[in-house]
Amino acid sequence: MNMNLLTDNPALYEIAFPDPEHLGGRFVESALVRHGPCGSVLDLGCGTGRDAGYLARQGYRVTGVDISPEMIAYARSQHPAVRFELGRMESYRGPEVDAVSCMDSALLYCHTNEQLAATLRNARAQLRPGGLFVAEMRNGAFFLGNDAVTHHEPDRVLAHDGVTYTARTRLAIDHRAQLLRRRRVWTWGSGTGELVQESAWRLLFPQELTYFLTEAGFEVLGLFDAPGPNTTAEACGGLAGRRLHVIARALPEGTLSC
Ligand SMILES: C[S@@+](CC[C@H](N)C(=O)[O-])C[C@H]1O[C@@H](n2cnc3c(N)ncnc32)[C@H](O)[C@@H]1O
Repeated sequence: MNMNLLTDNPALYEIAFPDPEHLGGRFVESALVRHGPCGSVLDLGCGTGRDAGYLARQGYRVTGVDISPEMIAYARSQHPAVRFELGRMESYRGPEVDAVSCMDSALLYCHTNEQLAATLRNARAQLRPGGLFVAEMRNGAFFLGNDAVTHHEPDRVLAHDGVTYTARTRLAIDHRAQLLRRRRVWTWGSGTGELVQESAWRLLFPQELTYFLTEAGFEVLGLFDAPGPNTTAEACGGLAGRRLHVIARALPEGTLSC
C-alpha cells in the first residue's frame, strides 16, 4: 500500500493546498451554468470534498467518490449535505447525473490507457445524454519535453496540530510511460518521523485527451489552459500553460461524433 501523508491526513491536505475562495468549485459551477442545465453532480476523486461541499451549498445534489477511506471519512465529517462513497473512478456506479467533475489532476491517477478509457466510459455511462464532464489537471503538453520544470522544487514546511512537517520533493519525467514521477520525503518531529512517498501522474496531451473522450462518447466543448482555478500568469489560452481544463458533453448512445 502506497502511503501518502496528505491523502492519509486530509486536514493537512487542506493546509498544503488551500482553496479559501472555492476556485475549484466555482470553476465547475461556471461550466455547469454555461453549458447546463444541471442539477446533480458526481465528483470523481473528490478528496476532502471541498468542491462537492461548495456545489451542494449552491443547490446541486452532489455525490463525491474517492479511493481513500481517510478522505471519505473526512469529507463526510465536513460536508454532511453531500453523499460520499468509497470507490474507484474506473468502476464506481451510482444513479444517473447531469454532470461529472474530476478536479485537480485526479484523472491523472489513471496511469494506463486502459484505466483512462475505463474511467471516461464509466463517467459517460452515468451521465444523462447531454450531461457534462468537467475536469482540470496538469497539462502534459507543458511538462513533456520540458525537463527544466522538474529541476527546482523548493522544500515545503507545513505546521499542523503543533507538529512541523518538511517535504523534500524530487520530480522526474518518465517519457515512455508519460508519467510525472514524484519522490517526496516527509520529516517531522525533529527527525523522529520520516515517510518516503512515491507518486505519479499520467501526462496527457490535449489531442490525446480529446481522442479518449471522443472514444468514450463525448463531444469536447472546451479545451484550454486558462482561465482556471490553478492557473498562473504564464497561461495564455494557447494550451502551453501548466494546467489543462476540459469541458465535454455526453453524446446520446449510438451517436457518432463528427
Ligand atoms: C489531488 S487530489 C484532488 C482532490 C479533489 N478533486 C480536489 O480538487 O481537491 C486526487 C484525489 O484522487 C483520489 N484518487 C486517486 N486515484 C483514484 C481512483 N482510482 N478512484 C477514485 N479516487 C482516486 C485520491 O485519493 C485523491 O483524494
